[in-house]
Amino acid sequence: MTNTAPSTTDAHAAPGAGDFAASAHRVVKAYGRGDAEVIALDGVTVGIPRGRFTAIMGPSGSGKSTLMHCMAGLDSVTSGEVSIGDTVLTGMKDKHLTRLRRDKIGFVFQAFNLVPTLTALENITLPMGIAGRKPDAEWLDRVIDTVGLRPRLKHRPAELSGGQQQRVACARALASRPEIIFADEPTGNLDSRSGAEVLEFLRASVREMGQTIVMVTHDPSAAAYSDQVLFLSDGQIVDTMAQPTAERVLERMKGFDQPGVGAR
Ligand SMILES: Nc1ncnc2c1ncn2[C@@H]1O[C@H](COP(=O)(O)OP(=O)(O)OP(=O)(O)O)[C@@H](O)[C@H]1O
Ligand SMILES: [Mg+2]
Repeated sequence: MTNTAPSTTDAHAAPGAGDFAASAHRVVKAYGRGDAEVIALDGVTVGIPRGRFTAIMGPSGSGKSTLMHCMAGLDSVTSGEVSIGDTVLTGMKDKHLTRLRRDKIGFVFQAFNLVPTLTALENITLPMGIAGRKPDAEWLDRVIDTVGLRPRLKHRPAELSGGQQQRVACARALASRPEIIFADEPTGNLDSRSGAEVLEFLRASVREMGQTIVMVTHDPSAAAYSDQVLFLSDGQIVDTMAQPTAERVLERMKGFDQPGVGAR
């Protein structure tokens, strides 16, 4: 860890003070022990505003995925506290946590993780079926129209483009109407046109359906679809940017020591 400056993260959020879909309070995440210890998150305090599209950016290894996994209860924190809405996840029993994740959180990953033998529609409704819940038909209709895949609902993943497959994955995340969707580089495997399709859809789901989305991305033009960008460096939130443009994000990113760029 090269960043020894005092944490400025408390300036960026005050959990409990606003309407946050998810929040982290002084979260530290350490992996390994002794010489092998890595502090992936170094005292992060942040609130994710409800009904907004938040992007997380930062150099490789800065802790973006770790923050997302901790906030989503996929990984435990070493110290500090994370909440989804008013529910504190930290210290929750596994069974309860699994149910909360299933009911309140949607995930989209870089790999689409669709079931190849199922149609698009079956993929979208699969998690709810497993949870024994019936999708709200009106909501599902709206999701399908927003995702723009009505003519493709009977297609299997292999018969869809990469962008269409990722939109199916996004629709699957939205189908249960989660409080928040965490997306880790959802456009990382897509060409720019398919990536734009997915980003347009995520943007529309925030604007038209009031969805809350947190997205990790390396791409300044992807971040420009968001309402605000959080910048992570060495496990700390070092900056935020409202109403980002690709140009401003790119300029800000140049300020970081990028691994693999120049001397390290
Ligand atoms: N399971 C793990 N065990 C040990 N160290 C880990 C583990 N997961 C992540 N780390 C370390 O924690 C730090 C943060 O990793 P993280 O995956 O959150 O970075 P990131 O910002 O998502 O990077 P990228 O942009 O490359 O995906 C890195 O130094 C990484 O090596
Ligand atoms: Mg990552």
